[in-house]
This record gives sequence, C-alpha cells and structure tokens, in this order.
Amino acid sequence: MMAQSVVRLLLGVVFLCLGYSSVAAQGQRHPDTIQVLVVYHSLSGNTEIMAKSVAAGARGVPDVRVVLKKVGEVTADLLFSSDALVVGSPVYWSNMSGEVKIFFDRWQFEFGVFPEFKMRNKVGAAFATGGQVSSGKELTMLTILAAMLGNQMIIVSGGGAFGASATTEGDSPGIDEKEKAEAWALGRRVAEVAWVVKRGQQR
Ligand SMILES: Cc1cc2nc3c(=O)[nH]c(=O)nc-3n(C[C@H](O)[C@H](O)[C@H](O)COP(=O)(O)O)c2cc1C
Repeated sequence: MMAQSVVRLLLGVVFLCLGYSSVAAQGQRHPDTIQVLVVYHSLSGNTEIMAKSVAAGARGVPDVRVVLKKVGEVTADLLFSSDALVVGSPVYWSNMSGEVKIFFDRWQFEFGVFPEFKMRNKVGAAFATGGQVSSGKELTMLTILAAMLGNQMIIVSGGGAFGASATTEGDSPGIDEKEKAEAWALGRRVAEVAWVVKRGQQR
C-alpha cells in the first residue's frame, strides 16, 4: 500500500516536470494560452496611449497573455513566440515612422524571417496617431499591414476600417475616449481572431 502511494507520488512529480518543461520550451506559456504582442514607437506619448488601450482590449479575452513593447525592445524570440502582433506608429510624413520601418527591416537583417516565412499565419493589425485629421493615418496603417502581408500574416482590422487611429494636434484635445475605445476594440478583435486561428491549427 505504502509502496503504491510512493510510486503514484513519483509519477505525479514526473508528469508535473514534463508539463513544466514543455511550457518552458514555449517561452513560459501554457499551451492553452495565446500571446498577443503590442509594439509601438512613440516620442511624445500619443501612440503609447493607444498601445495601452490595444493591450487592455486584448487582455479582456480569456487565456490571452499580452506583451507591450517599444519597437526597439523586441527580440526574435519574443516575435516568433507570439501568436499575434499589433504595431502602432505615429504618422511621419504620411507614413510609418523610421523607427517602425527599421523594426520591420530587422525582421530580416537580425531575425532572418525569410525565406521560411517565420511570421506566416500569425495575426497582424495596425494602429496610428497623427497630428492632423486627414494627413496620412490610414496610409500609415496600410503600410504597416503591407509589411505584414509580405510576410504572409493574417491581417485583421478593428476599431476603424484599417485599424485604430487618433488625431492628436490642432483642434483635437488629444486622444479622447472614443479613440481609446477604438484601440481597445482592435486589441480585442486581434485576440479573438488569434484564438480562432490557433483552434483551427490544433485540429
Ligand atoms: C517628423 C514628423 C512628421 C510628422 N508628419 C505628420 C504627418 O504627415 N501627418 C500628420 O497627421 N501628423 C504628422 N506628425 C505629427 C505626429 O504624427 C503626431 O504628433 C503623433 O501623434 C505623434 O505621436 P507620438 O506622441 O506617439 O510620438 C509628424 C510629426 C513629426 C515629428
């Protein structure tokens, strides 16, 4: 009787250890969670406010781990271990900022994403802030989405037609609650779709 209990205890410990090592191999994530990486560049804080709302929206979906990082802080491990990626940029001359473009270029120069298409079938989305009402926010989001499409990612929108955006200068009082809600909705949709994709891959 005593020997059986000891054997059962030992087996339990072995199974626990095996479970832990498989989770550790996946970057400390339990297999039944997804990871949403929210990445942004922000000099004066506007895009960061949107990034935090995107992250809050994604966090509201059960079994989702959200990682919020500035573009320069992203490592290959973090990028490739994420199931979804949301990238935010300020509008610089009607396009993504140089820092965000460098982030995408590092995928190849530092992370070697091609020719294996290591971002293939991960969910991708974009958000942007711009000083003026109609001076490049949608184009900025589309150029971010274009970089993702080139990497065979699965693109989703949410908030607005191409992602979430906010106007930050001129008559605008800064980022308002409606714009934050757009960002939140984008984060939530990305997490929901990432789950749909993951469940499909598990079939
Ligand atoms: C170099 C530069 C270029 C900019 N170009 C544009 C532009 O073309 N259209 C626009 O709406 N805002 C433009 N802006 C304003 C920023 O997009 C806006 O202030 C943004 O919210 C800044 O984001 P951040 O606070 O996250 O840094 C520009 C700002 C800078 C510094």
